[in-house]
Amino acid sequence: MPATVLVGAQWGDEGKGRVADWLAAESNVVARFAGGDNAGHTVVVGDKIFKLHLIPSGILHPQVTCVLGNGMVINVINLMKEIDQIEGMGVSVTPERLIVSSRAHLITPAHIALDAAAEKARGSGAIGTTLRGIGPAYMDKTGRRGIRAGQIADMEAFGDALFEMMERANVQLVAQGQPPLDPKAATAEYLAAAVRLQPYIRDTSAYLNERLKAGGRVLCEGAQGTLLDIDHGDYPYVTSSSPTAGGALIGLGFGPRHVDRVVGVAKAFSTRVGAGPMPTELQGALGDRLRGTGENFWDEFGTTTGRPRRCGWLDAVVLRYAAQVSGFTDLVVTKLDVLSGFDELKIAVGYEVNGKHVTTLPTTLRELEQAQPVYEIMTGWKEDITAVRQPGDLPTAALDYVRRVSELCEVPLRSVSVGPERDQLVHFGN
Ligand code: GDP
Ligand code: IMO
Ligand code: MG
Repeated sequence: MPATVLVGAQWGDEGKGRVADWLAAESNVVARFAGGDNAGHTVVVGDKIFKLHLIPSGILHPQVTCVLGNGMVINVINLMKEIDQIEGMGVSVTPERLIVSSRAHLITPAHIALDAAAEKARGSGAIGTTLRGIGPAYMDKTGRRGIRAGQIADMEAFGDALFEMMERANVQLVAQGQPPLDPKAATAEYLAAAVRLQPYIRDTSAYLNERLKAGGRVLCEGAQGTLLDIDHGDYPYVTSSSPTAGGALIGLGFGPRHVDRVVGVAKAFSTRVGAGPMPTELQGALGDRLRGTGENFWDEFGTTTGRPRRCGWLDAVVLRYAAQVSGFTDLVVTKLDVLSGFDELKIAVGYEVNGKHVTTLPTTLRELEQAQPVYEIMTGWKEDITAVRQPGDLPTAALDYVRRVSELCEVPLRSVSVGPERDQLVHFGN
C-alpha cells in the first residue's frame, strides 16, 4: 500500500496540520520527515485547539502510529513538554503511539544559543529564524559532529557528548561576545528528558518499511514550505532542511516506489514570517485585512513565535514552482473563507524582472528581490462561505478563483477549506 507526501507550497503555515489531520483519518502511520519544533501545526477538534510542533497531527486519530523520522532535528526537552501538554488534553502519547528515529539528530541548548548568536551577528541581514536551534543542529549533522537519538542508549557516553558539545559552543559564544552556557547544569537538565525519551526510540526506517510491506498507509506530514527549502527555497532566507517531497524519502528511509500521491497545500493568499523576498506582499490596509487583528486564532500570527505574518496576494509563480519541485498530484487550497468580502482579488501570474517578463521563479535572490508581480484580476464574492460543503454551493466567483489557481499551477484541485474546523472542507472528487 502506498505513501502520501504532504508538502507546503509557499513559505509555511499553509494549513498543513489541518489537511494532515483530514488525511490521517485514512492512514495507519503519520510521519514527520524534516525540521523540528520550528513548525507549528494547528488542528481543531471540537472545542480543542491543538498546536503541534514536533508530534505529527496523526496523534489525534487513535488508529494512527506517529513517527519522528531521521530527517528531523529534535529538542528532547521540548518534545517531552509537548507530550505532557498533549496528554494533558486527553490524547495518549505512549511509545506504542509515537516512535522516534534513533538516527534523528538532537537539538541541544548549544544549538539554541548559537542560533541566537548567529542571528545577532547577521544584524540587518537576519533571517528571522524561529530561534529553535534548527540551523546549528543541521550544521552539526552535516559537519559530522552531531548527536543522534540512538546515543541515548549509553547514557554515560551521551552525557559526555552533550557536555563536550556545550563546551565547544561556549568557545564560539564567547568569541562572539555572548554569555556562555553552564555545561554541567544544561547537561543534567537534558539528561533528565533523555531518560524519558528512551522507550520511544527505535529504527523507524525498518518500522516504516515493514508497515508499507504489510499494506499500511503512510502519510508523510511535511513541515515548513517549498520556498523555505535549503535547496529549492529563496536561499539564504530558508530553513536548513528539505521540506519538499524528496525530503520525505531521505528523512524517513523508504524508496520512491512507495509514494503514489503528493499533496500540495496552498493558502488562498500568501504569507511569510521572517525575512526574505515576497513579491506579492501588501503593505497597509489590504495586508492588514488578510492578516486579521489577532482576535481569531486563525489570524496570521505565528503559531510558534507569535510574530505577525507578512501577507499578500496569491502568487501562482510560486505555486507552479512548488508543484514542479515536488511533483504535486493533488492541490488543496486553504483559508478561502478569509477572501470573502473583497471586491476584487489578484493572482500573480508572472513577474517583471529588470524590464523582462518572466513566468518562472528567478533563481537568484537579487532577481527575486527585484521581481514586480504581474497580476491577473479576479472578481471577489461577498457571501460567507464557512458553511459550504459542496463545490456547487460556493459562489461562482469563489469557484472561478480556486479553479483558476488549479489551472495556473497545473495540478488537479482536490479540496478547499473554508474554516479551521475538521468538517470545514469542500471536496472536489479524486
Ligand atoms: P501549518 O503550519 O501549515 O500547519 O499552518 P498553521 O497551523 O501554522 O497556520 C494555519 C492557521 O490557519 C491555523 O490557525 C489554522 O487553524 C488556520 N486554518 C487552516 N485552514 C483554515 C481555513 O480554511 N480557514 C480559516 N479561517 N483558518 C484556517
Ligand atoms: P510550519 O511547519 C513558517 C521560517 C522562519 C524563518 C526561516 C528559518 O508551521 O509551516 P528556522 O528557525 O527554521 O531556522 O527559520 O524559516 N520558518 C517557518 N515559517 N512556518 C514554519 O513551519 C516555519 N519554520 C521555519 O520564520 O524565516
Ligand atoms: Mg505553522
